[in-house]
Amino acid sequence: MDHFVYRGGALYAEDVAIADIAATVGTPFYVYSTATLKRHFSLFDDALSWGDHLVCFAMKSLSNQAVIKVLGDAGAGMDVVSGGEYLRARAAGVPGGRIVFSGVGKTADEMRLAIEGGIRQFNVESEPEMIVLDQVARSLGVVVPITVRVNPDVDAKTHAKIATGKSENKFGIPISRAREVYAMAAKLPGLKVIGIDVHIGSQLTELAPFEAAYNKVAELTEQLRADGHEISRLDLGGGLGIPYARSNEAPPLPTDYGALIQRTVGHLGCEIEIEPGRVISGNAGLMVSKVLYVKSGEDREFLILDGAMNDLIRPAMYEAWHDIVPVIEPAPGAEPATYDIVGPICESGDTFAKGRDMPAVQADDLVAFRSAGAYGAVMSSEYNSRPMIPEVLVDGDQFAVIRPRPTYEEMIGRDTLPPWLE
Ligand code: LLP
Repeated sequence: MDHFVYRGGALYAEDVAIADIAATVGTPFYVYSTATLKRHFSLFDDALSWGDHLVCFAMKSLSNQAVIKVLGDAGAGMDVVSGGEYLRARAAGVPGGRIVFSGVGKTADEMRLAIEGGIRQFNVESEPEMIVLDQVARSLGVVVPITVRVNPDVDAKTHAKIATGKSENKFGIPISRAREVYAMAAKLPGLKVIGIDVHIGSQLTELAPFEAAYNKVAELTEQLRADGHEISRLDLGGGLGIPYARSNEAPPLPTDYGALIQRTVGHLGCEIEIEPGRVISGNAGLMVSKVLYVKSGEDREFLILDGAMNDLIRPAMYEAWHDIVPVIEPAPGAEPATYDIVGPICESGDTFAKGRDMPAVQADDLVAFRSAGAYGAVMSSEYNSRPMIPEVLVDGDQFAVIRPRPTYEEMIGRDTLPPWLE
């Protein structure tokens, strides 16, 4: 469910016509819907209302300050994976007590910054990291709450680049060694063990892998309690998928996910945290681009857009599918066309879709990439010296630029010449 619909023949973001935004900010750009962000957050918040819980938005999926402020004001916590994300969350007004710090390679500086600014917990991913965190905490004269991320060796049945819960992945400690790692943590005076963390991958379209992982976490909770550890919080990660293609089977509903959590770990009386990213931000955003040229190849037509892989890398990187729709609603019964949809970057990987059937469009028409809110803007770059594209937030009938497009001068001006070349 999102708030991007055709009205009177034109695509809208809530009550704002996409074409009006394009006329103001130029193309390409990202646009996010406040109502969709809030709705998605509250669906998960409600799905866990049977117990003590905190929904921590995975900021890696979309970290613009304005978006974080919308979600933070709605009561969300944040899952951060770097000092930069931590400071973004704080700058957007999220209290440290609602921020969890995940990630397989936190530096001592990042740990220090988060401890000094206030943190809900660190999700620790290895013994050496635990030792460094203990040292940092003691040097600051504090005891920091931690969970240990366990790797449950469960197949998340998702794209290999975004599966994290198999033993061959770099994440967490093997669940088979959890008891010894917790025993070690309990001996470190700068750390206080409070729970367990697990995250098995992203874009999961079935509940079964979650169920397998959460059952293992439930069993481990009981073992660790028997060993004398206080386990009062379970961080169950993110990863719930979204429908990218309209034809896809619908992924699990938030209510079913919440019920699964209740069924697998609800009896343990722990506070529950989840770290959803994509399922909150994915369908809350579009990338809008303009058709530059329609070019006839030998056996196909190329739709050449002004957006490229540097703006939205998911198709090139994960063979991801994004629905691409015209901003002017096609007339009923309009002839469809088949295109290879590409950007202007000088490599063949800059292809958004091959042999894609869609309504016919022509040069200067606008098209919108659906489900582009998550892992879109945050993964963009200036490859080919293309300035980062702007982000826009809509709320009802208002819209505002929340990250402007840099000028060429600003982009080039970030380089500096060494003295011997001046
Ligand atoms: N928690 C942890 C520890 C994570 O590593 C991730 C995602 C999340 C939560 C949020 O997962 P989500 O709910 O968004 O699935 N760039 C890739 C996705 C990478 C996901 C990495 N970790 C993509 O565009 O598909």
